[in-house]
Amino acid sequence: MNTMEDTLSFNKQQIERPIGIMDSGVGGISVLRELVKLMPGEDYIYYGDSVNAPYGTKPAQELIDLTMKNARFLLEQGAKAIVIACNTATSVAANILRETYPEIPIIGIEPALKPAVLAKEHSKVLVMATIVTLEQKKFGDMMHLYEEDADIIKMPCPGLVELIESGHLKDQVLLDYLEEKFSVFHKEEIDAVVLGCTHYPLIKNMVQSIVPNATIYDGGYGTARQTERRLEECGLLSQRETGGQVVFYNSLGTEEMLDFSRYLLELSE
Ligand code: DGL
Repeated sequence: MNTMEDTLSFNKQQIERPIGIMDSGVGGISVLRELVKLMPGEDYIYYGDSVNAPYGTKPAQELIDLTMKNARFLLEQGAKAIVIACNTATSVAANILRETYPEIPIIGIEPALKPAVLAKEHSKVLVMATIVTLEQKKFGDMMHLYEEDADIIKMPCPGLVELIESGHLKDQVLLDYLEEKFSVFHKEEIDAVVLGCTHYPLIKNMVQSIVPNATIYDGGYGTARQTERRLEECGLLSQRETGGQVVFYNSLGTEEMLDFSRYLLELSE
């Protein structure tokens, strides 16, 4: 039925469709920033599920249902690929999503433990993440892989996502939270801090101010590179070099949240 010309125009239409990105809220914008920097010619649709944030304390089945719902929304908007810009949702639901949509490139994110461990011998590495991410088998397996090479310490941060979602990006409230979290450590002994939740790069400077000597890692750039690779493999990488658009959606549905999202995209940490 299809002539060669039909097939080509079908592919061209596919290529010009946007990349869909999801998170429990505004955190995935830290990944979106890296995507836009790396592939400025692509169009993006970002879905933040702020109504249901935080994800990091929810039961697995609820997280699977929410991630599936977010994916359906992005696909209905015409997404050609899905980036799960949420460590929590990736660790619980990425495989199920890939099984459900085998024809769609689905890219997840994980804590950037490897570069943090490999940067220095026998280093002390602190991993800040949600409770769910740190408790999942995915992180357990990764930690097991590197536990001989470094002293890896898990730092679950309940309450931090809520602070960031409500706009505490550089104030005393946030500083008090972080000071309290780090108060149990000899800060000068920490070599690296891994930001294992996509909300945390939005407050990277604040974390750095608490541990000025530590190197801070996050998975945003790696995820953007992986997205580029997957799109290329699938023949879905846009040939445009500039001019891509970003459209934000948020389950809260307020103009305020959409403005906050646009502000975070422009903000550079
Ligand atoms: N930003 C997400 C992550 O990377 C989810 C945080 C949350 O909602 O608890 O884990």
